[in-house]
Amino acid sequence: MYSGAGHSQEVASVPFRHYPLDPVDTANFRQKLFVPGNSGPFGVLDVAGPLKIRATAANFPILPGPKTPISSPFLLYQTEHAGKAYQNPILRIESGSRFTASLDNALPEPTIIHWHGLHTPAAMDGHPVNTIAPGGRYDYDFTVRNRGGTYWYHTHAHGLTAKQAYNGLASFFLVDDDDQRRLAKALDLRLGVTDLPLVIQDKQFDAQGKLRYQPNAQESMMGWLGDVVLANLTPNAVQTVTPRTYRLRLLNGSNARIYRLAFVTGKKRLNFTVIGTDGGLIERPESVTEAFLAPGERLDVLFDAGQAQIGTDIFLKSLAFDPMENEGPAMPGMAGMAGMEHGAGHGAPGVASSRLTLGVEFNVLKLSVTAGERIVAKLPATLSKVSAIPLQGATQRKIELSLENMRFLINGRTFVMDEIAFDVKRGAVEVWSISNPTLGMPHPMHIHGFSFQVLERLGSPAQVSSSARFGKGRTAGDLGWKDTVLVWPGETVRIAIDFTHDFPGDQTYLLHCHNLEHEDAGMMINFRVQG
Ligand code: C2O
Ligand code: CU
Repeated sequence: MYSGAGHSQEVASVPFRHYPLDPVDTANFRQKLFVPGNSGPFGVLDVAGPLKIRATAANFPILPGPKTPISSPFLLYQTEHAGKAYQNPILRIESGSRFTASLDNALPEPTIIHWHGLHTPAAMDGHPVNTIAPGGRYDYDFTVRNRGGTYWYHTHAHGLTAKQAYNGLASFFLVDDDDQRRLAKALDLRLGVTDLPLVIQDKQFDAQGKLRYQPNAQESMMGWLGDVVLANLTPNAVQTVTPRTYRLRLLNGSNARIYRLAFVTGKKRLNFTVIGTDGGLIERPESVTEAFLAPGERLDVLFDAGQAQIGTDIFLKSLAFDPMENEGPAMPGMAGMAGMEHGAGHGAPGVASSRLTLGVEFNVLKLSVTAGERIVAKLPATLSKVSAIPLQGATQRKIELSLENMRFLINGRTFVMDEIAFDVKRGAVEVWSISNPTLGMPHPMHIHGFSFQVLERLGSPAQVSSSARFGKGRTAGDLGWKDTVLVWPGETVRIAIDFTHDFPGDQTYLLHCHNLEHEDAGMMINFRVQG
């Protein structure tokens, strides 16, 4: 039931260093988008039975050039299934079924897999306490309790997460259910054809075309930004579309970069429809013209390519924004440090890296509209049911982000592997008020083990509140079930979490910033759900 285009790249006959990868210049977008097939790199693997996954270093062609010379340190999850080989497979599984996998560490350093967004027992969650040494193995065995949706998996070895994820250890984990199938049927969505998983990442490459990851002290503190933007590991990607509706399952798999996504043709911004967030479908389709996507978050959208004329191009862009907006009183030494002036002198020669700041608009993907039957989709009025978590008797808790001695902290703490920051009771409903005072730095906060609902945004910057139409300062990306929420400088975001679970005994999970440099630097705490 899978039909993808397979792994094909247009190979330009020029050395990498001469290939223009400037994502600001629309003329560069001529590299065919990598679309996952049913095996190979990012092949869709329908899970049936136990998997043996190996984390290893390997060659993987990302960039154009005569020899596509990406070698080590690209890191991949390799597996075989039903006679086919996969690298970083897109795992697909039915809600309610059992997932069994072993992870073998063939890397020269520790690693572990976290199933981002999944509600599993703590021992199955990829907490860094379960990191395995080189040559080690970890066995996973759990029931997929989540509803249908676009989840993902990635490395979580503390202190190494940023580097390992950047170098490749991440892919999708798609959960299917009746709601998902109903939608696919209604809109004729086929994975790999009209339903495209799309991971957006920014990277730096050296003159040989190898991934570069060498954060200095400032970049380790603020987050590593790339100057090349990849859609499914394709720089300057183009995808041919016909005048019909596509589903794009957008994942921000970047270490630190936040995207302000919009579809633009010429000067015109086009509508797109948010149908899902981190934890699956929202209740009703919501039409928007832009959405922020922070590291770790997913946004499921429908886009009607028939809004543009045949023969024209549409760009999925990241619009300019100001991460410092709303920061409150300026903090000494912070001005210009949020990556806004980032990158001068980095990247491949000829790449205008200093142009790819958060303050400029750049392109992620070109959609070329070609002739085809005009299909006007009738969106279902209702996508799914999302019941609000009942708040009576909820425990209120304050989560305060701060900066001390060049380190970002949560409730004054930095990560200590076996320290529990606080306990919650099994079955309790809690309301967390996450505040980010005067940091000049947005933080995408992620909770392991439990999805939550965004109740309210207070004190949002104007660039966020301008698209808030869902009451209490919320935007379309706040709707439904979430596992990661962006907290802007000056904001307080209130979320509700229901700690009901059926796992035996105490369970320890993480709360952390999904800016991976922040996480590795200790912006992470343990909390325990008491049994
Ligand atoms: Cu996707 Cu603890 O992270
Ligand atoms: Cu952070």
